Order: sequence, then structure tokens, then C-alpha cells
Amino acid sequence: MSRPLRIALAGLGTVGGGVVQALASPELAERAGRKFEIVGVSARDRKKDRGLDASKLTWTDDAVSLVRSDAEVVVELIGGEDGVALALVEGALEAGKHVVTGNKALLAKHGARLAAIAERNGVALKWEAAVAGGIPIVKGLRESLIAYGVDSVFGILNGTCNYILTTMEATGRSFEDVLKEAQRLGYAEADPELDVGGGDTAHKLVLLASLAFGTIPNQTHISVEGIKGITPEDIRFAREFGYRIKLLGIARRTAHGIDQRVRPSMVKTGTPLAHVDAAFNAVLANAGPAGRFFFEGRGAGREPTTQSVISDLVDIARGNLGASFGWPAASLKPLQPSDPGAATSAYYLRFEVLDVPGVLAEIARHLAESRVSIESMIQRGRSPGEPVSIVMITHETSQASVERALKAIVTSDKVRARPCMIPMEAA
Ligand SMILES: NC(=O)c1ccc[n+]([C@@H]2O[C@H](COP(=O)([O-])OP(=O)(O)OC[C@H]3O[C@@H](n4cnc5c(N)ncnc54)[C@H](OP(=O)(O)O)[C@@H]3O)[C@@H](O)[C@H]2O)c1
Repeated sequence: MSRPLRIALAGLGTVGGGVVQALASPELAERAGRKFEIVGVSARDRKKDRGLDASKLTWTDDAVSLVRSDAEVVVELIGGEDGVALALVEGALEAGKHVVTGNKALLAKHGARLAAIAERNGVALKWEAAVAGGIPIVKGLRESLIAYGVDSVFGILNGTCNYILTTMEATGRSFEDVLKEAQRLGYAEADPELDVGGGDTAHKLVLLASLAFGTIPNQTHISVEGIKGITPEDIRFAREFGYRIKLLGIARRTAHGIDQRVRPSMVKTGTPLAHVDAAFNAVLANAGPAGRFFFEGRGAGREPTTQSVISDLVDIARGNLGASFGWPAASLKPLQPSDPGAATSAYYLRFEVLDVPGVLAEIARHLAESRVSIESMIQRGRSPGEPVSIVMITHETSQASVERALKAIVTSDKVRARPCMIPMEAA
């Protein structure tokens, strides 16, 4: 066996702690053909009980100083789109060290530039852990689904959102109530905005889009809507129509550019994405004539994410370096965005209206004026004069047409709340 692969590890939290434990496995070294040696570590608090024997680890309080260690690989598991993580990753690549990271926020912002630095210095920048935890989707898109390219990617990429939606469906409870429970159980952060607002899914989606389409990760041209507006009523109506609501990240090639979006979507019961429950993640990739490929698994947590970091380290040990985004850095192209309003699908629309004569006719007139036609409708009555829900499924139409109709509909004094609009995705 050749000499050990020397590793410096910054961050000893959920994932970093798992990596220290997993690297101790003799079987891993046997598979990789090389032993692994941790030559330096950094975290904030030396005294914290991490369930690890830290006495044999060489500590530094300044994570960025690991750039000057004799490590061949720096593993960055601190997090954050700038700051220490960026200084460490950039410094390590410039110093000719391979980098493994799980940091989607950093890559979504600086990925193309960092990939170019890695390439210039002849080292690898690997990030399997950054998207969908333990699912080997980065490798899948970078190395496997390449003969015919990929036309579209649909992902359930945030376990917190999927847990909340699944629990809302199973219990009929509200978003706020289930979020509080998720926070208590440790499934959601104290500040949940990045997850429930869709930002975390967006970070991961722009990375998948880059792998699929050879574009520079682009966070500007992506429309993002999270799950805060979804009500138990929407989930119940979805079920009546034969659908489930999932927060999807979607990246697809259209005739007029790349469409990137994150939004709650209706997914037909019986299709693979509809059955991804609890905190699981999944990605459906359409690879042209090669067909559709579905990946599912644990999208977060110590072991799944450690597995992805270890897979990258074993790749490096074996000399499988490869281009960071699966395309030479210089050939990554600026993303040409499609017009979001031109995207077409059928839509679920829910209106909360006063139960008075003429309200349905008024909504129907505005929809017709924007050329939105209705496929089916449910109206649930209460007492006369009280608000009721009218739910409609449209035929396939453009987003711009539906938005135009809704803009007119909300001006009616019979409409009590902002209408809910959810696309039905044929994923
Ligand atoms: N957790 C997951 O399931 C998961 C899944 C996919 C990707 N990721 C990504 O993996 C990365 C790590 O996530 P995590 O969940 O392991 O985070 P975490 O549990 O919060 O751990 C972060 C670690 O970084 C250390 N740290 C923070 N600031 C530091 C600094 N300035 N210098 C040195 N060390 C510093 C912390 O030190 P202390 O321990 O002393 O506080 C801690 O050990 C993030 O980029 C995350 O997005 C995580």
C-alpha cells in the first residue's frame, strides 16, 4: 500500500465528527488502496464533548492555517458562503491542496471561480455532500448521465420541508404547528428561514443545474417560493385531485433558455417523487434517450453525509480527480435564463371568497379573459354569506396568463385572501 493520504479537517460537528470516525476503518483503507491520516483539525471549542478521542488529533484554533499544513487534502465542514470557509477553501486550492466540502452555500456563490482555481493548480474540488446528503447525485450527473446529457432535473432537496409537508398531510395540522414540532425534534433550525423559505433548495438546485447543463452556478435567475403559504386545506384538496404537494427544485432546458425554480408543486400520486416521505430527499433526472433516473435516500444527518465526504476522499486517494462541475472550468457558460412567465403547466388555484351570487362568474370571467380554461372545480360551502373555498384545476397554460388573471381577481371585493396558485408538475 502506498503512503497515507494526509488530511486536514476543519469542522468537527455533525459531519466532521462522522468523518473522523469513518476514516478509522481499516476496510476503507483497503478499498481505497491507501491509508488515511488526519494531520490537523480545527473547530471552535476544544473542550466540547464530541464523543471522539480528540487527544490524538493535532488542533489549531485558526482553521485557515490548515492551508499551511502538510496535508494533501483539506476537508471543509464548517459552512457559510464566505468568511472562514471561503478563505480556507480558496487558500487550500491556491496552495495546491485538494479540497472536499459539503458547503452548498459557498459553492452556489463561488463555485465556478473555485473550480477554476482548482483546475489551474491541478487539484480536485469535490462536493458530493453538498447536495442531497448521502445520495450520489453529484457523481451521477458529473460522471454517469453524460452520453446524452440531461434535459431536466426535479429534486426534493430539503428534508425539513419534506418532513413538514408529510406531517401536515398525515395529521391535518398547520404549517406553524408542525414547524414548531420539527424544531423541538431537531429536524428544523431555530432560524428556519433558509429551509422553509426555499433558499437551501435553491443553493442545491443551482449546483445540480451546473452539473446538468455546464453553466456557471447562478443564483440570480431562479424564482424561489417556500412552503409557508401551504395550508392543510391545500393538502386535502390535492389529495382529492390525486396529487401530493412537494417542495420541488426544478431545472430544465427549454427552447428559450434554462428554467430554474423552487416552489411547492402538485405531484401526481403514483409517481416516484410523490412517495418521498419524511426527511428523505430525491432527484429525478431526465437523460434524453437514456430515459429517466430516480435517486432517493437520506438527504442529511451524520452517516449519510459522512458517506458522501468519504466517497470524495476515496476518489482522491485513487487519483480520480475530475472536473469539479463535470466540465472544464473554462467551458462553464453563463446561464441563459428562460422567461419564467413563459413556463407552462396546469395549475391548482384556490380562492377564498364570500359565498354570494356572482362570485364564481366573476372569477371565471377573469380567467377566460386571460385565456385560462378550467378542467375541474370543487366548491365547499359553509353558511350563506361566510367565506368559502373554490378550488380549480386549469388546463395547461402559461404562468404569465394565470398571474394576469389572479391580479384581476384579487381586486374583487368578494375575494377574501390572496389566491393560492400551485403548478401541477408532470415529473
Ligand atoms: N448536517 C448535515 O446533515 C449536512 C448535510 C449536507 C451538508 N452539510 C454541510 O456540511 C457542513 C457542516 O455541517 P454540520 O452539520 O456538520 O455543521 P455543524 O454541526 O454546525 O458543525 C460545524 C463545525 O464547524 C466548526 N466551526 C464553526 N466555525 C468555525 C471556525 N471559525 N473555525 C473552525 N471551526 C469552526 C464548529 O466548531 P464547534 O464544534 O467547536 O462549534 C463545528 O465543529 C455545512 O456546510 C453543511 O451545510 C451538512
